[in-house]
Amino acid sequence: MDKIVIIGGSKGIGSAILLQQLEHSLVYNISRTPPDISHPNLVHFSIDVLTEPLPEIENIDALIYCPGSINLKPILSLSLDDFRNDFEINVIGAVKVIQHYLPALKTSMHPSIVLFSTVAAKLGMPFHASIATAKAGLEGLVKSLGAELAPGIRINAIAPTITETSLSASILRNDRMKENMMERHPMKNYLKPQEVARMANYLISEDAASISGQIFQMDYGLVSFKL
Ligand SMILES: NC(=O)c1ccc[n+]([C@@H]2O[C@H](COP(=O)([O-])OP(=O)(O)OC[C@H]3O[C@@H](n4cnc5c(N)ncnc54)[C@H](OP(=O)(O)O)[C@@H]3O)[C@@H](O)[C@H]2O)c1
Repeated sequence: MDKIVIIGGSKGIGSAILLQQLEHSLVYNISRTPPDISHPNLVHFSIDVLTEPLPEIENIDALIYCPGSINLKPILSLSLDDFRNDFEINVIGAVKVIQHYLPALKTSMHPSIVLFSTVAAKLGMPFHASIATAKAGLEGLVKSLGAELAPGIRINAIAPTITETSLSASILRNDRMKENMMERHPMKNYLKPQEVARMANYLISEDAASISGQIFQMDYGLVSFKL
């Protein structure tokens, strides 16, 4: 049975990944609050990944880092601390867990890492300066580590468009906002966390053995098409 470590499996995309993995993997979840389920294959640690020490976990097959932020403001309303905080949770947190669990990943026969970017790292959108800056940094991390950790450990990122989770709740808070968001996308939809989770679970599977250093846009055409 594979051992999967999810940072941020209590909510959103991480929770959907956790639910899809539990029947066939041993899942270690790290988040500030526990997932709202219990399962014999689930081990939870209540930890703030930025401020607390990480638990020791041996023989890890996959590491998935989910924490992120949506902090949309005009540039003159963004403080330097906004930029620092977004960089901290999106990039430094990921670096911290990768450094900590790299020795445990190296003992696996097929280790891999999945991180999360955003469509805003590729497509210029007003008010996204802070998050786009942080996620562009994270995409650079994926490229660099893809090379550095090859051939042993694979690392990829998923760059989703808006996904219906607690993080995006204020942007999708009523039916009208949901319809407008669908309309903005060339393929007239936005993401459910389960769709993103299926991609993450594919990327950590042996079916994705040839894939590393890649950023996968899941965008319902937003970045890809101008209709
Ligand atoms: N949702 C979207 O529309 C969207 C769009 C583009 C990209 N993304 C990216 O996709 C990723 C997942 O997003 P999501 O919507 O699933 O987010 P979410 O609903 O906010 O879930 C984030 C998870 O990370 C955990 N977490 C946050 N801060 C933490 C900390 N300091 N220490 C430990 N755990 C922490 C949260 O658990 P606790 O609160 O219990 O700690 C939660 O389980 C993020 O990187 C985000 O930037 C999301």
